[in-house]
Amino acid sequence: MSQVVIVTGGAGGIGSAICRGFANDGHTIVVADFDREGAERLAKDLGGEAVALQVDVGNKESVGRMVEESLNRFGKIDVLLNGAGIMPRNQVKDITEEEWDRVLRINLKGVFLCSQAVARHMVKINQGRIVSIASGRGVAGAPGAAHYAASKAGVIAFTKSLATELAPHNVLVNAMAPGVTDTAMSQAGFTEEERKRRLALSPLLGGYTPVEDTVGLFRYLISDATKNVTGQVFFLKTP
Ligand SMILES: NC(=O)c1ccc[n+]([C@@H]2O[C@H](COP(=O)([O-])OP(=O)(O)OC[C@H]3O[C@@H](n4cnc5c(N)ncnc54)[C@H](O)[C@@H]3O)[C@@H](O)[C@H]2O)c1
Repeated sequence: MSQVVIVTGGAGGIGSAICRGFANDGHTIVVADFDREGAERLAKDLGGEAVALQVDVGNKESVGRMVEESLNRFGKIDVLLNGAGIMPRNQVKDITEEEWDRVLRINLKGVFLCSQAVARHMVKINQGRIVSIASGRGVAGAPGAAHYAASKAGVIAFTKSLATELAPHNVLVNAMAPGVTDTAMSQAGFTEEERKRRLALSPLLGGYTPVEDTVGLFRYLISDATKNVTGQVFFLKTP
């Protein structure tokens, strides 16, 4: 059955692959991103009923507008994918208070604000799925990006908390953690030589997580196969 799916960070590397995959499955996609042009380009490419909305996930008013416009247009929201995120690289000794706040505002507060706004609607209709992109860094840590690791640890704890609150309302809340995926985010952290080395490696032997694997896991997480699964974190990291 066709579902209305909001994808934040929808213009990004992983987000756009999810938008394309879900649009191909016949779902109605809201491509929500800070990057207005990227979101509009993708929505046009997807065709059908896909729509682009500019959003700053760390801003309550902006998130409120995203949810309101989605509801005005489609009358319901079935799925929220929290995919927006940033990962600046910096050692703790050099991270400024502003940089720390920016990472936590987008990666963690953004997940809170979007989930809260969408959950209020889902509780009313007694159904829904919320899936957030965490990271293995949220468990293992990330030397050179401690704020990122801390934000993703927060996403995992938030997911488990919200899952319990929303279970009585038939709203399922899960997270997934891709391994290193070849997107703008990871490219900023590798030399071209390291990138090529990873591209040449099998995912089973330390290469990149293929973005299709992430799309496949999301597909599973919004399917009937997981209608009793909530509060879980699915790790895609290969050995
Ligand atoms: N790429 C990886 O290796 C990897 C691994 C594990 C987890 N992740 C997570 O996956 C998610 C997607 O990452 P990606 O690799 O596709 O990165 P990306 O940089 O390609 O995409 C991130 C998207 O988020 C958007 N964004 C940034 N700030 C925003 C804001 N305030 N409001 C709305 N949108 C905003 C950007 O415009 C961009 O389109 C992120 O949460 C990231 O932390 C990525």
